[in-house]
Amino acid sequence: MPRVPATVENIRIAAEALREGGLVSFPTETVYGLGADAASPTACARVFDVKKRPHFDPLIVHVLDRQSARELVTSWDDRAALLAERYWPGPLTLVLFKRALVPDIVTAGLPTVAVRVPSHPVARALLEASECPIAAPSANPFGYLSPTTAEHVEAGLGSAVPWILDAGPCPGGIESTIVDVSGQRPALLRTGGVSAGEIESLIGPLCRPEGGEVPLAPGQLPSHYAPRVPLVLLNGRAVPPESSGRFGLLAFEEPPASVSVAFRAVEVLSPSGSVVEAAARLFSCLHRLDALDVEAIHVEPVPESGAGAAVMDRLRRGAARRVPPVRPED
Ligand code: TXA
Ligand code: MG
Repeated sequence: MPRVPATVENIRIAAEALREGGLVSFPTETVYGLGADAASPTACARVFDVKKRPHFDPLIVHVLDRQSARELVTSWDDRAALLAERYWPGPLTLVLFKRALVPDIVTAGLPTVAVRVPSHPVARALLEASECPIAAPSANPFGYLSPTTAEHVEAGLGSAVPWILDAGPCPGGIESTIVDVSGQRPALLRTGGVSAGEIESLIGPLCRPEGGEVPLAPGQLPSHYAPRVPLVLLNGRAVPPESSGRFGLLAFEEPPASVSVAFRAVEVLSPSGSVVEAAARLFSCLHRLDALDVEAIHVEPVPESGAGAAVMDRLRRGAARRVPPVRPED
């Protein structure tokens, strides 16, 4: 049984497996990660294999503290120092020039490495017990919804992961913010748990992908975070669809009964209208709707302030059309 409670003893045994080249899924304050010893190219290759992740998409390396982060990189300027001081441990990933000891497979051949110091006690206990930096992408099949519970990991990756440390739902629910501080101007590569505005108030203006100024992180494909069932992003509050009972609804706040009755199922992101709560619940709500036999999921937009920007980023990518599967003619 790969999913076990994240007890001290289980963390110790999982840490041993990790040191021997095995994979361990563990909770962080953002989403569940699929971890491997970052110094072992073979173990990291297994991560790509299990996730069916393309090798051009680099991994994030998790470490216990700033000092351990600095051991992986050659550059560390005032901006990195300020951000690390303010947000670590926490949901911020910094991209910096790597040292040779970071294997190329981790960075997909890039000269930079993405590093973060997680705050979740189980992630920290695993780092402490394994005594190695842990390379860990989100523990989902490539392109699918991120996992915010151990059950999501088990359903998505199943027996391919020998260890899933279960500590309940992740408190943040949305991936870390990624900031590239390797170049002259810092760049926002992914919105996430820390808002871009907060970062800018600390280190000045960021180049932003939506302005076309910087490319996204290599793995941030337009169609990403996608459920199996198509997402239809609405312009405003939901209205009853023409035919009842064929669609799911992801609402921001509780919709009126006249609207909800027309949907097969309704998930409310935030009954209290908070974008932070919406971020925490986003992937769980989508996982539940995706498990139903509906034609599409109608999605209400959320206010684009703070964590709401990261939620909207995930929803837009989830809604980006993929090429529909070709059906043989019957
Ligand atoms: O919250 C998180 O960051 C979670 C937890 C598990 O820590 N991890 C996560 O990893 O979201 P993943 O692999 O799903 O996303 C990592 C992103 C990818 O889009 C990847 O392209 C980008 O980080 N990335 C990694 N290394 C990079 C680098 N050197 N330069 C630019 N982007 C990089
Ligand atoms: Mg991911």
